[in-house]
Amino acid sequence: MLSFQSASELSAHLEAEILAGRLAPGDRLDPVRSAAVALDLAPNTVASAYRTLSERGLVIGRGRRGTFVADRRPMVAPEPLIPEHAIDLASGNPDPELLPDLGAVISRIDVPRTLYGEAPVLAEFERAVRRHLVDPPGEMVVVSGALDGIERVLAVHLRPGDRVGIENPGWPAMADLIRAMLLRPVPISIDDQGPMPEALRSSVDTLDALVLTSRVQNPTGACVTASRAEQLSEILDEHPQLLVVEDDHAGPISGTDLFSVGPGRERWALAASMSKAIGPDLRIAALFGDPATMNGVRGRQSVGPGWVSHLLQRIAGRVLAEQQVAFDRATETYGERRLAFVSELERAGIEARAPSGLNVWVPVLDVAAAVAACLDSGYAVRSGDTFVLDDSRAVRVTTSRLSPTQALEVSQVLAQSHSGRRHTRSG
Ligand SMILES: Cc1ncc(COP(=O)(O)O)c(C=O)c1O
Repeated sequence: MLSFQSASELSAHLEAEILAGRLAPGDRLDPVRSAAVALDLAPNTVASAYRTLSERGLVIGRGRRGTFVADRRPMVAPEPLIPEHAIDLASGNPDPELLPDLGAVISRIDVPRTLYGEAPVLAEFERAVRRHLVDPPGEMVVVSGALDGIERVLAVHLRPGDRVGIENPGWPAMADLIRAMLLRPVPISIDDQGPMPEALRSSVDTLDALVLTSRVQNPTGACVTASRAEQLSEILDEHPQLLVVEDDHAGPISGTDLFSVGPGRERWALAASMSKAIGPDLRIAALFGDPATMNGVRGRQSVGPGWVSHLLQRIAGRVLAEQQVAFDRATETYGERRLAFVSELERAGIEARAPSGLNVWVPVLDVAAAVAACLDSGYAVRSGDTFVLDDSRAVRVTTSRLSPTQALEVSQVLAQSHSGRRHTRSG
């Protein structure tokens, strides 16, 4: 028979059962009193174990009905497998041909022998970021990509079980990160201008934090406009304690201005990533925020990795300062490819959303059938299932490298699955 000495032993056992799937989402835990009798523990001990699980987001108390295992999807959404024969329109990657030539930049950089004890932020990198990328008020910390920065910000303020508003549809990695931190994702519907005011208003009271993509939203390409930023700020102003985190991941290739809602709030942060413009492998982003948040991030970073390599900061700073022409060319080319695909879709009878970015979010009747039909024609597109927190149906097509002929072919395949007709290779 199972025997536990303390609340922490019991909660650890139940957590292991949940993670192993032996207790499934929706399963009810034994009521406190009967569990206490069965395990020969005081009811308070069992209640305390259940409380710990609830704080960690693993179970949900539903009053008299009892305590239930939370409805958790798999922690890490599987990356799409791109079969060898297929053209990759699924990964969301930039076009390598449109990324700056880092080899050429590196060959022109002086590399001092940097030791321990230097300031974490290289002045030359901060200057380049503020002059060429974004220049919000507040201090800057350098982190290893937007997601690393956002994780560090959430960790400063939130505890397991806290609720984080995220865009729906939205970037699956953000939902995964939130779940991995034992926080609870709360879907906020969006349109082409970002989070919809009525959607934010209806759940803002319950949120501890809000994460939004101010431009080049993934997967829809939505961009927060000046008027939408004003509407959202009005709602957020009634909740001064709420942490607002903005994810600006496409920076110099966004092709649109940044209308930010965070700066000036009590708790805010903005992560400016170089991944889409300079290349995801550089793993570098600039993080801005209010003094308390930045102190927390800096303090934790200082007892962990310490800083982000000055070599990376030097390279990224130099690229930002020197490569405006390359960024402009990339912005224009991505825009042409995206819009060419949207036009083909329109001609084929599909209205798709794509205000900016490297992807087009295409509504379909049956996600699995649309993905299969594309694959049958040699194109891997990404199922929309992992981007949505409800049951809306779409696929994401990455257009960063899409040629006009491919745009025509893919739109025709999607039109066939959109209209419910069966696609055949010849038809
Ligand atoms: C919305 C969003 N934010 C951030 C990133 C990239 O972040 P990182 O700087 O961590 O590479 C991506 C990459 O696809 C993204 O889609």
